[in-house]
Amino acid sequence: MRRLTVPAIRDRKRDGVTAEPIVMLTAYTARQAQLLDAHCDLLLVGDSLGQVIYGLPSSVPVTVEMMENHAAAVVRGSYHSVVVVDLPFGSYEGSPEQAFATAARLLKASGATAIKLEGGAAMAETVAFLVQRGIPVMGHVGLTPQAVNVLGGYGPRGRSEAEAAKIVGDAKALDAAGAFAIVLEGVVEPLGLAVTQAVSCPTIGIGASARCDGQVLVTDDMVGMFERVPRFVKRYENVAAIIAAAAQNYAEEVRTRSFPGPDQTYQPK
Ligand code: KIV
Ligand code: NA
Repeated sequence: MRRLTVPAIRDRKRDGVTAEPIVMLTAYTARQAQLLDAHCDLLLVGDSLGQVIYGLPSSVPVTVEMMENHAAAVVRGSYHSVVVVDLPFGSYEGSPEQAFATAARLLKASGATAIKLEGGAAMAETVAFLVQRGIPVMGHVGLTPQAVNVLGGYGPRGRSEAEAAKIVGDAKALDAAGAFAIVLEGVVEPLGLAVTQAVSCPTIGIGASARCDGQVLVTDDMVGMFERVPRFVKRYENVAAIIAAAAQNYAEEVRTRSFPGPDQTYQPK
């Protein structure tokens, strides 16, 4: 099976209608990518790996090197989904040239297909600069976690009319600049619908209601690996409990000398 392409994702939405919703999940490791790949259209190497993998307090300290290594692992573990890599905080906001250098470095090092960056109208010039030079860009508006120090937290955005209008304007600016899709995070349902209707490219929601053209979740949240999760997460499994139970059984068997048993022990021929 050939890998999906960015134009194929972009064209899932035609004349404002998306017949088949777009499915995206985060992936940070090769094995995780292998397990998710066949079920997804897009795998996002999100800078949420800062919290999820590295135990950092936010995505702000995440480095380009971290993104490079995890993106390469996800590309090696997948062959179907389009792999999108987040540009981490501080690696692209300075200028379109800075963004291009970081994006090119990430795509060359990993073999990923596209990048994602946070921000609306202020980033439109950068989005156009990248797209015109061969780098597909996914936008990200609404709650933008890299701006946590400006926003003051991770609560939903666009509850006032003025902020809602700004978010619609941000999404339109990214759409006009050539973004192939836009992540819409942490907004009330009417705004999820308004943004989705305002742009020609697909919207991919996270905490943005069912009115978007697709959905994304952080995989570790969705499978119950990460302990603190926002309200918009649905837990499909409780993998943390499975791992903790396995560790408890193993520890007990080591301490009672019942592991390793005959099946796990080499003998001379
Ligand atoms: O970093 C991330 O995981 C993301 C998604 C939540 C959209 O940006
Ligand atoms: Na992110």
